[in-house]
Amino acid sequence: MAGTGRERWTSKSGFILAAVGSAVGLGNMWRFSYLAAENGGAAFVVLYLALTLIVGLPVMLAELTLGRGAGKSPLQALGHYGGSGWKPLGGLFIAAGFLILGYYSVIAGWTLRYAIEALVTGFSGDAGERFSAIASGPAAVAWHVGFMVVTVAVVARGVSGGIERLAQILMPALFAVLIGLALYASTLEGGGDGYRHYLSFDLSEVMRMDVFTEAAGQAFFSLSLGMGAMLTFASYMDRSHDLPQESGIIAAADFGVAFVAGLVVFPVIFALGMQEQVGGSTVGALFITLPTAFHHMGAAGTVVGIIFFGALVVGALTSAISLLEVVVSSGMDAFGWPRARATWIFGGAIALVGIPAALDTDLLGLMDQVAGNVLLVFGGLLLSIFVGWVMEDPIGEVAHGTSGIRWFGLWRTLLRYVVPVLLGIVLWNSLGATWTALVGYFGS
Ligand code: TRP
Repeated sequence: MAGTGRERWTSKSGFILAAVGSAVGLGNMWRFSYLAAENGGAAFVVLYLALTLIVGLPVMLAELTLGRGAGKSPLQALGHYGGSGWKPLGGLFIAAGFLILGYYSVIAGWTLRYAIEALVTGFSGDAGERFSAIASGPAAVAWHVGFMVVTVAVVARGVSGGIERLAQILMPALFAVLIGLALYASTLEGGGDGYRHYLSFDLSEVMRMDVFTEAAGQAFFSLSLGMGAMLTFASYMDRSHDLPQESGIIAAADFGVAFVAGLVVFPVIFALGMQEQVGGSTVGALFITLPTAFHHMGAAGTVVGIIFFGALVVGALTSAISLLEVVVSSGMDAFGWPRARATWIFGGAIALVGIPAALDTDLLGLMDQVAGNVLLVFGGLLLSIFVGWVMEDPIGEVAHGTSGIRWFGLWRTLLRYVVPVLLGIVLWNSLGATWTALVGYFGS
């Protein structure tokens, strides 16, 4: 992709597929379900949806506009429109990529292990014990490194080809399996409390600042925003794309998958009486509840479970690719390295960053908190200011490829005033909470 002829997406759907592949991943299942469970269910979901619309969509459009306008990696795109003073923000993106992919790959390693082991032994009865055995230790390190090797092998070759085709088949399969699971979950006795917890909200909960903060972090994480991933993908497109429309498609697909995942996880948790277990190991909520459900479903459950975890591995892979691509494209730009070298060196370094997370689930949770609630929110805040105030004529750029009036004035107003203020409030809050968590972890 380097050099004079910058690689282009072969078709519009190529970009949309890659962007949806980036957005839909472990964040929609693993992260969404554990945060929704931890933060009062429905209140979290309402805030998450509101923030996706008010903050996520404008920032998504900002990243696409900036990436397409500059046609460069984040580091250079910021320099192109803002001068060298803005390059440190590109450095922040790279740091976030290292941190996120480091632990993301650990969770993807768990997923891979569940998928492969289910092929051999099915799903065991005590999913809680099983999760504790899998989550950390030398074996977790090995599965994590294995997943990183696969990710590196794909990115080193460039993103087109096999992975696009694989995603084209397996992402719809994932969605179909999810809907099937949601239907199955609706037949469970005692699942009603789960729906109530997930869907009926209480206004006083919605007003809670901590829930608001977590929901904002989740909106960024799930949409792959705040660290230049969408920006990087957009840098490979031409001006015929209708950016507002495509942002809408990506956000709708992303929210849809997360929402349906909740329709599976919550009834299952309540029907099987697993509230306690999930409360005890929030990071493991998905990996404890679903295998239990699959086990209860008998032989059919094993088949569905294998498809589910297999498809989730693919979702994780297409997301991991986009995380690595940010770091690699910036490295190629900054050092002039060829793609293969940049990919193996950075991939190796990221694998090292993830090892501590594979040895300690509490540390993994902490890394996730720092990344989602601080780095991505801070990145999104600065990106909205950059496109709202610094970038020359963002409206002229975004207008290419669109037809009809697209509310560009509203978009710019949101980027200039609403998004920075909301994210500033979120950041102020999450810095406090994250600091307390860091002191709690390292201070003792
Ligand atoms: N959005 C992905 C998920 O939900 C994870 C991801 C991919 C990501 N690229 C990102 C998160 C960039 C933040 C930034 O699983």
